[in-house]
Parts: sequence; structure tokens; C-alpha cells
Amino acid sequence: MSQKSEKNMAETNPEHSFIVLANRLPVDRCEDTWQAAPGGLVSALAPMVRAERGAWLGWTGGFDETIPPFEFDQMSLVPVPLTEAEHRTYYEGFSNGVLWPLYHDLIVTPQYHRTWWRAYEAINSRFAQAAVRSAAFGATIWVHDYHLQLVPHMIRLLRPDVRIGFFNHIPFPPVELFGQLPWRREVVEGLLGADVIGFQRNSDAENFRAAVRKFAVDADAPPPLIEAFPISIDTEAIRQAADSEAVARTATQIRRDLGDPDILMLGIDRLDYTKGIPHRLRAFDELLDDDLLSPQTTNFLQVAVPSREGIAAYQDLRDEVERLVGRINGRFATLGRGIVQYSHHSYSFEDTVALYLAADVLVVSSLRDGMNLVAKEFVTARRNRGGALVLSEFAGAADELEQATIVNPHDISGLKTGMHQAASLDTVQARERIAAMAATVEDHDVHHWAQRFLTALQPSAPLGPAMGKSATAHRDRAAQKVTSSD
Ligand code: G6P
Repeated sequence: MSQKSEKNMAETNPEHSFIVLANRLPVDRCEDTWQAAPGGLVSALAPMVRAERGAWLGWTGGFDETIPPFEFDQMSLVPVPLTEAEHRTYYEGFSNGVLWPLYHDLIVTPQYHRTWWRAYEAINSRFAQAAVRSAAFGATIWVHDYHLQLVPHMIRLLRPDVRIGFFNHIPFPPVELFGQLPWRREVVEGLLGADVIGFQRNSDAENFRAAVRKFAVDADAPPPLIEAFPISIDTEAIRQAADSEAVARTATQIRRDLGDPDILMLGIDRLDYTKGIPHRLRAFDELLDDDLLSPQTTNFLQVAVPSREGIAAYQDLRDEVERLVGRINGRFATLGRGIVQYSHHSYSFEDTVALYLAADVLVVSSLRDGMNLVAKEFVTARRNRGGALVLSEFAGAADELEQATIVNPHDISGLKTGMHQAASLDTVQARERIAAMAATVEDHDVHHWAQRFLTALQPSAPLGPAMGKSATAHRDRAAQKVTSSD
């Protein structure tokens, strides 16, 4: 790996006062160099990591390779290696074959393999030790997402001096579902090592509090701050792209290539069974069948970004989506005019914004979704242009985007009604609704989210509603348990 801005960091001071720990590093590999990974999390945290001369620890996306720490865009990046076997057991297995479906309402059945659990423990320990090695005295360590739930407690045992925050990007399930997990106590205790535990929705925070009451060994111990911190997007970056001439030209071209339909519906998702892609395609199929939408003047553009392709449930979903797309086009397409355009690849940031500008209706029909940032990006890109958002009540974004057409995606009739209403929305009303949602997102962008979380994590921060007693007491209690380095 070589790039002008990179430099081998092995011989420089490895201690940092601010550390981000996430399963993935904020970079993607592009041939023999690194590129900044797209996404709000990176744009929110990268400036802080830079300002604090901090470090970001995570997996590179490759396996069986040892890459020394390096500098990228004024951040220290510390790769945490995975072997191919660990990728299968820790990442595809426990993280995405157990926790992901369990935390998303059991849309597919988790497989509680003990070997996967052991790999999860071992890799969490690897991340914790890497963090401890990089942390200056009194450092702030921010751990992200379901892959690393044991890390807060592991760090706490090793380093009572640091502040630890944990943010769960995905939902936290009701205690009745979470209780299936054979290692539920270990996960709860793992998270309780943090000073602040953040969730997307109030209901997630409430579910976690219930799990603590039911499964924590010492349920009376002073808990950390447990609160909702709904994540958001980099509104400025979206606005800039949406206002650029090049993006506007691409948007016009997209519509032209589709034959300038009267109504262009759009879905943009990772190809994941939580997103309800088959549900929206079925609803669309029926709307055409019922003559409520015309195949001569309507198109559906579905972008499905490839994801976790080694996992059987994802392969099955791909087959199902492709079958549905084929069925709808088989029934309603005419020579020279397709109805559903389906892309199974990712688009650049600019092209994604162009898709938002080209579409009239965005359909977000998640069966369960921590937040859904696509919904927030769409309303921000279209803030002064109108358009309509169909939004599942099971996406975290539904708590904030009240002016969307809210649907239950399991109810195909209701989903059809929602999609039809959105497609027929009066222009003035559509503009007002989008503008109101865009204003909400603007007031609560990703920088606001990160600041709020880190302020709560300050040693002097006032305690939240869940606290009752001091987080310091919890920390001291954990520190007394320090026994080993792993
Ligand atoms: C979700 C998770 C992220 C994850 C992303 C992509 O948004 O919350 O932690 O990075 O999906 O999934 P992947 O498995 O490719 O990292």
C-alpha cells in the first residue's frame, strides 16, 4: 500500500487521547491505495480524529494480511487483522448470522453455534487489546456497533483510567427475543463496561434497560448512561452535491434514459433481508395490476448494493429479488420500455445524489432498520424540490420524519395505498412536507449527533435519566475486577 498522504506509523508515538473502534476502517482499498470510505459516520468522526490527533482501529476488509498502522488524511489508522476463518466465524457467523438477525426481529433464524461465539470473544479481545495499546492515559475510546459488544468491559478491566462510549447502530431487540441468545449475560455485561451506551431510538434504549434488569449479574450496580442518540447525515455534503450542475445533469440524464416517466419510484438499499425489497416490489406489481399505476408512465428504479454475499440468506434474497423484477418486467414491459430497472452494484456519492434528484418517490420499506440514512439523504437533497417519501414505521427515521407517508411494509395493501398516495401527492403539499423533513434533519445532522454523544461522555457530563447513581462508581467496580490482560 502506498499513497502520498500515507506514512508508516510504526515508529511514531502510538498513544492517542481519542480512539474510534469500529469493525471497519474508514477507508476502502482501491487497487494499491486507500480511498476514504463514503458515509456519514466517517464524515462525522474523521474531523474529530484529526483534531485530536486520534486513531481509528478497524478491519481493512481483507484477510490473512498484516498491515502496519498508517496515516491517512491526518488520521492514524490501525488495522486489526482477520484470517479467512475468523471472517467466516466472527464476521459472517456470529456478527451477521446471529446478532444481525436476532437484533432485526428474527427475519431469518439465527444459528447459535458455540464456535462462532468463541471467535466473537477472541476477536473482541483482539480489538480491546489494540485499543488499550493505542490509548493515552485518560483517553476517550468510542466503540461502534454490534460486532464489538464485549469490548467495553474488556477495555474497562485493563484500563480503568479511560472513558468508554458505545454506540449501537442497529436496533436492540425486545428482551423476549434477546433472551434467546445463549450468551445474553455476557453481551449485557460487555456493554455495561461503557460509561455511555447510545442507541438509535428510545425503544432500543428501553429494550436494553430491560435486558440489564433481567440478565445482568449485578442488576443493582450503578448503570452507565443509557440513552437514544439518533444518528444522522452530513447535510452540508448532500446539499452541495444536490446543488451542483454536474449532479443535476446526471439526474436529467437518468430520467431521459428511462423515457422521461411521469412517476419514477426509487429504492436504494444494501441488498439485505431487513430492507423489505420484495415487499415493495410486490406492492408495485399489484399497483400496476390494479391499474392504479400505469406501466406506460411509471418506472421503479431499485439499486441493491451487494452485501455479505457469502451468507446463504443474502444469496436467497438476491434470487428472490431478481425473480420478482423478472416477473414484473415479464408482465408489464413492452418492447423498448422496461418497468423495473434493477442494479446490483454501488454508485458513487454524486450518482447517488443524482438518483435522489431524478426520483419522485423514495420507498423505504424496511422490516426493521436502526435508522435508515437514505431517507434522511433523500429529503435533504430534495429540500426545495418536493417529492415524496414512503417510510416504514419500523425504521428509526420514522421517529423524526413525521411528514413522510408512514407504512407497515408487512401489510401489502397498506403499503400499496402509501405508495399510491405518495405518487399522487399534490405538488404544494409535497414541497411543504419535504421542506419540513429537511429542516428537521438539518437541525440534527451527524455533527450534532457526534457532539451530543461525546459531550455526554465527558467526565463532567450531567447524568442521564437512567443513571440514578454515578458512572464512576460502575467504573471503579469494574476496575476492581481487573485480573488478566485478556
Ligand atoms: C450496517 C451496520 C454497519 C455496517 C454496514 C455495512 O449499517 O450497522 O456496522 O458496516 O451495515 O455492512 P458490512 O457488513 O458490509 O460492514
